[in-house]
Amino acid sequence: MCAKEIDWSSLGFGYVKTDLRYVSDYKDGKWDDGAMTADETVVLNECAGVLQYAQTCFEGLKAYTTEDGRTVCFRPDLNAERMIESCKRMRMPVFPKERFLDAIVKTVSANREWVPPYGSGASLYLRPYMFGSNAVIGVKPATEYQFRVFATPVGPYFKGGVKPLTVRISDFDRAAPHGTGHIKAGLNYAMSLYAIVDAHEQGFDENIYLDSGTRTYIEETGGANILFVTKDGKVVTPKSSTILPSITRRSLMYVAKEYLGLEVEERPVRVDELESFAECGLCGTAAVISPVGKIVDHGKEICLPSGMGDMGPVTKKLYDTLRGIQMGTIPAPEGWIVEI
Ligand code: PLP
Ligand code: COI
Repeated sequence: MCAKEIDWSSLGFGYVKTDLRYVSDYKDGKWDDGAMTADETVVLNECAGVLQYAQTCFEGLKAYTTEDGRTVCFRPDLNAERMIESCKRMRMPVFPKERFLDAIVKTVSANREWVPPYGSGASLYLRPYMFGSNAVIGVKPATEYQFRVFATPVGPYFKGGVKPLTVRISDFDRAAPHGTGHIKAGLNYAMSLYAIVDAHEQGFDENIYLDSGTRTYIEETGGANILFVTKDGKVVTPKSSTILPSITRRSLMYVAKEYLGLEVEERPVRVDELESFAECGLCGTAAVISPVGKIVDHGKEICLPSGMGDMGPVTKKLYDTLRGIQMGTIPAPEGWIVEI
């Protein structure tokens, strides 16, 4: 497929091969200079660390076309910093922040035709990732790694775009106390696959995971953090050391406070508080803010007052303001938008 053949507005969240991707190899204690390649395949030893012991982590961010035709990325510095934290926790070598940002610029520049036009509702999703590439059979970190960034044009993460979702409280756990829930390790997603397939089979769009230590607090979903709006208009998000520090969620909390003048609160949120909220949304790079209309807790249906028809009013304001900042129609805070 070539970019010109794409019907941008009907894109879902899937992989489309684009022209070039960035690759850098780590060997003998250092990263090479990195280069762009047309080859989308990765050839590995059968015993590579990533294949045997899942030594891999990744990031996700997007490039957009603004209203005035510029190509921009949203807060890539925070993805670089989060990947550094993931690498440290996974005993992988850090890919330096400046080099990460350079790899993003190179990948977007080399695939400019694939950046969806303004107003299409689509964006160019960028997937930086790293994995242990040499053979390891004893349980230990690899000594060789590959860092790559590919780009793929995407539409909405959830089918139906911004239609409110139905989610369930999961009986499966996502992250253990003192485990890896706070980093973007591939293993966190591998262990959520059973639960997401099961959720879909039961008619739910996503799983809400609870804290696995006590199973009394709301954590996040398989691919997004959670925001709630109280009946008196306060924006609340769960605080926990085992959820991924979402860049979207941190940005939305700032937008809520500084742009919309709302009260914001990051604190532990108990499951038995769910009935007291007016709105709920899932937030992340892929999810943007996807409204939740119904939460099912073991057969008990909690219907958010915002309903199953549309986004709640506060969620909508948050969504419109964040999209406006990303699309260049609302002034962004210093450093949030990086022009490519
Ligand atoms: N939580 C999980 C488990 C995720 O996979 C993601 C996606 O990156 C998020 C939250 C949202 O994070 P961000 O807003 O940085 O994309
Ligand atoms: C993202 O939002 O970038 C993610 O990595 C989430 C993933 C489930 C697609």
